[in-house]
Amino acid sequence: LELLSVASEMFPFVKTGGLGDIVGTLPHALARHGIRTRTLVPGYPALLSAMGSPRCAARFSDVLGHSGTIWESYLCGNDIFILDVPALYDRPGDPYMGPDGNDWPDNDIRFAVLARVAAHIAQGMIDGYRPDLVQAHDWQAGLTAAYLHYDGSVAPPVIQTIHNLSFQGCFPPSALSRLGLPDRAMCVDGVEYYGNIGFLKAGLHFSAWITTVSPTYAREIQTPEGGMGLGGLLRTRARVLTGILNGIDTDIWDPEHDPDVHFPYRLRDLAGRRPNKRALQAEFGLPQDPDAFLLGIVSRLTMQKGIDLLSQAADEILQDNTQLVVVGSGSLPIQRELSALQRRFPRRFACHLGYSEALGHRMPASADAMLMPSRFEPCGLTQMSACHYGSVPIASRVGGLADTIVDANAAAIAGNAATGFLFSPVDAQSLVAEVRRARTVFRDPAAWSVLQRNAIAYDVSWCGKAAQYANLFRAVVAHARPQVR
Ligand code: ADP
Ligand code: GLC
Repeated sequence: LELLSVASEMFPFVKTGGLGDIVGTLPHALARHGIRTRTLVPGYPALLSAMGSPRCAARFSDVLGHSGTIWESYLCGNDIFILDVPALYDRPGDPYMGPDGNDWPDNDIRFAVLARVAAHIAQGMIDGYRPDLVQAHDWQAGLTAAYLHYDGSVAPPVIQTIHNLSFQGCFPPSALSRLGLPDRAMCVDGVEYYGNIGFLKAGLHFSAWITTVSPTYAREIQTPEGGMGLGGLLRTRARVLTGILNGIDTDIWDPEHDPDVHFPYRLRDLAGRRPNKRALQAEFGLPQDPDAFLLGIVSRLTMQKGIDLLSQAADEILQDNTQLVVVGSGSLPIQRELSALQRRFPRRFACHLGYSEALGHRMPASADAMLMPSRFEPCGLTQMSACHYGSVPIASRVGGLADTIVDANAAAIAGNAATGFLFSPVDAQSLVAEVRRARTVFRDPAAWSVLQRNAIAYDVSWCGKAAQYANLFRAVVAHARPQVR
């Protein structure tokens, strides 16, 4: 089965969060199930400079007023179509924002062109290539299904995958004709969304199937609160909505061969983690005390992640020989709060404000526990790398966190199944209480190492999840086949 995956980021070239990881690693896992993926991504500078000597797959002169080239390349084990439109994508830095921290003003056309080209490829724009199925990731690829619908031509089915419903891609109705959509699309059964054009709404409405990244999030997004305005539409499409958990690539996340881990250790070697803890404490200027309870956070700094709760909770969290290191990038007010904490607790709190893939790997190899106080979390990858590296997750009981962490309650401890700590509601008080609960277990080394071993044994790989995708993809293609010539 030939899958065309359409996305705005892809690890290791361009990544702002988990979306990039998934787009870059799922294809390898799908290949083991007989699915060949080609990924269409915008030609950002990082991709253009990595592509070596690519093959020209197609050229176009007028797609929504833009001309460009589709380069075909094989990079890091992935078949990639690079959409080279310099006027839209040849901009350094973040894929969505300019250096001033604001979204690029032409993001509507930038990602409409991505979707428009994806639709053309699905219809045969590239000689000798016809995908059986298209997977559109998040709002940036959301118009793909809408273009195919309004073109009315024979085309493969589209699966719209939701990684995060809070990013919806809404633009003013005046953009309609620039985006190459007909006037009749501006209605509730089209791309219209509360008076605007909704890219994600369009994808959810016109796709053959919808997936999201955990079973619990699939339920949460059908509620008024979790649906963030799209709950009604998702309820009407509940029959074609499936939650499949993300996985992590255990070749990349392998503590024995991880180049970013100072002291590599074998997967189950808990003692092998000790020098890494000491090295991280030294790297952040904290006392190198093996008995300190070292907590870590690696996160985007947004309201979603609940990092702002630390300001209220720090006094109590940082009691009883507890240390906390935060690696995060994003919101300036949250960065300021973290800097203030560093001034207040110089011997117990430290942060690195910025994106660092290396620290993202060192933290789970070094911290005793990783904190994730997310207000909502479609899946979450940090708790998975934490478990795999022997760091115990302490997380809010939402979305994929609830699906991937077995809380250390009495029954789970007795059944030797506990892998971490889950708390609710998501507020400073519960966060503090949960850290205390974890700290009590940490002070009992035998009990703590049982948790670590269970966490390491928990399967975070793509294995079973890729099989679920493969089965779903085959079913969707088989169902659509009568309409495809
Ligand atoms: P989200 O996609 O919502 O940001 P996930 O947990 O799914 O959350 O994925 C986040 C990914 O990005 C993980 O691989 C995490 O390690 C990484 N990450 C997030 N922020 C940083 C940062 N500041 N430095 C390094 N890695 C980061
Ligand atoms: C999103 C979500 C995160 C998820 C990731 C990959 O950014 O916030 O929970 O793991 O996408 O699907």
